Amino acid sequence: MASLHKNAWFFPFILGITLLAAGYYVINFHNIIELASSQSHYENYLNKGLGNSDCNCTAPKRTQKVPKILHYVYLNEDPASLPFNFTHWLAFTSAIETIKPEKTYFHCIHEPKSYWYQLIKPKVSIMKTRIVTKIFGNPVNIIQHKSDIIRMEVLRDFGGIYLDLDVIVLQPFDDLLYYDFTMGIEKTNQSTLCNAAIVSRPFAPFLTRWMLGYKDFDDSDWSRHSIRLPYNMSKVYSNDIHVLNATAFFWPTWMDEHLDLAYASNNYNFSNQYIYHMWSTKSYYKYLQYLSPKSIKSEETSFNRVVRKFLNYLPKDFNEKNFDFDG
Ligand SMILES: *[C@@H]1O[C@H](CO)[C@@H](O)[C@H](O)[C@H]1NC(C)=O
Ligand SMILES: *[C@@H]1O[C@H](CO)[C@@H](O)[C@H](O)[C@H]1NC(C)=O
Ligand SMILES: *[C@@H]1O[C@H](CO)[C@@H](O)[C@H](O)[C@H]1NC(C)=O
Ligand SMILES: *[C@@H]1O[C@H](CO)[C@@H](O)[C@H](O)[C@H]1NC(C)=O
Ligand SMILES: *[C@@H]1O[C@H](CO)[C@@H](O)[C@H](O)[C@H]1NC(C)=O
Ligand SMILES: *[C@@H]1O[C@H](CO)[C@@H](O)[C@H](O)[C@H]1NC(C)=O
Repeated sequence: MASLHKNAWFFPFILGITLLAAGYYVINFHNIIELASSQSHYENYLNKGLGNSDCNCTAPKRTQKVPKILHYVYLNEDPASLPFNFTHWLAFTSAIETIKPEKTYFHCIHEPKSYWYQLIKPKVSIMKTRIVTKIFGNPVNIIQHKSDIIRMEVLRDFGGIYLDLDVIVLQPFDDLLYYDFTMGIEKTNQSTLCNAAIVSRPFAPFLTRWMLGYKDFDDSDWSRHSIRLPYNMSKVYSNDIHVLNATAFFWPTWMDEHLDLAYASNNYNFSNQYIYHMWSTKSYYKYLQYLSPKSIKSEETSFNRVVRKFLNYLPKDFNEKNFDFDG
């Protein structure tokens, strides 16, 4: 009893420390809850900080997360296998002149040789890429799936804007650079998130999680990992992704009546969207192969009207007579 009495100061001391800690926890608890339930943990953290009394929370400072760099992936394992023709020139020119990136990376195995590539070459930085054969031990043989994997790797490592080789850019992407990760809905008979245009900061949580999903990759299931899986994931990890509506990126779609609307009618208004995906595998033989600077200037279609201004970037000495469909 004597020794307990002697150390009696100890108990109120411990009680005091405990009360202080509990008080601190309660005061900060609302911050923790607010952080956890915010639209994006990372964004909230960057904009407000935790318990930062200097912050002006009515006007959070927006922080750019995605570097304004463009990435293209061009996987011609056989140097003669993939052309770079006029439609590619048009896509690159629209992106470079509209987004005005700090840098454009051309991730390729072999550089193309065509006339149209020579016009683009001074505007891009060449990055030699690897030949994909497997992902998590699963074979990858289809060229589009190899490209899917390279685009995810470069976005994870560098961040930036990835575009397919047949994407026409109609509006700047500046306001999309403030989100961790952005994709657009492709709405046909089902809804998916098309991976032809992706905006990502380096190591965006959504992206790294999507890549882990390739553990059960199946090369023979055309759209499963590339567009259906991210759509499903966006319902679960909605805080980590900014989803654009079906008209923002991928409208009109690749369905026949939609291709006609873009390339054969003059009735579609492209003014409320960032990009138009030309769906070259679907549209090439019916429409794209007939496009030329001359046809774009002279024929009034929804598509021609909106891309016409990019012809101003043709070389001054461009000779329509020498236009060669084979590039
Ligand atoms: C916070 O930002 C708003 C909007 O910019 C401004 O009107 C206000 O004066 C700022 N408050 C402080 C304390 O700086
Ligand atoms: C939607 O269309 C695609 C391609 O035409 C087809 O493979 C798929 O089965 C269709 N899905 C549904 C839910 O109808
Ligand atoms: C997406 O979710 C649907 C509905 O739950 C499911 O049937 C489908 O298999 C899922 N697809 C992928 C690729 O995860
Ligand atoms: C879809 O997104 C575009 C681009 O952000 C916007 O202009 C348009 O108003 C949106 N449409 C709807 C129905 O919300
Ligand atoms: C397209 O829509 C925009 C805005 O909605 C409008 O200002 C413009 O006049 C329209 N263009 C045509 C050709 O209808
Ligand atoms: C032009 O490029 C498209 C898209 O890659 C391709 O389908 C087409 O065969 C090319 N055309 C020629 C004539 O090389």
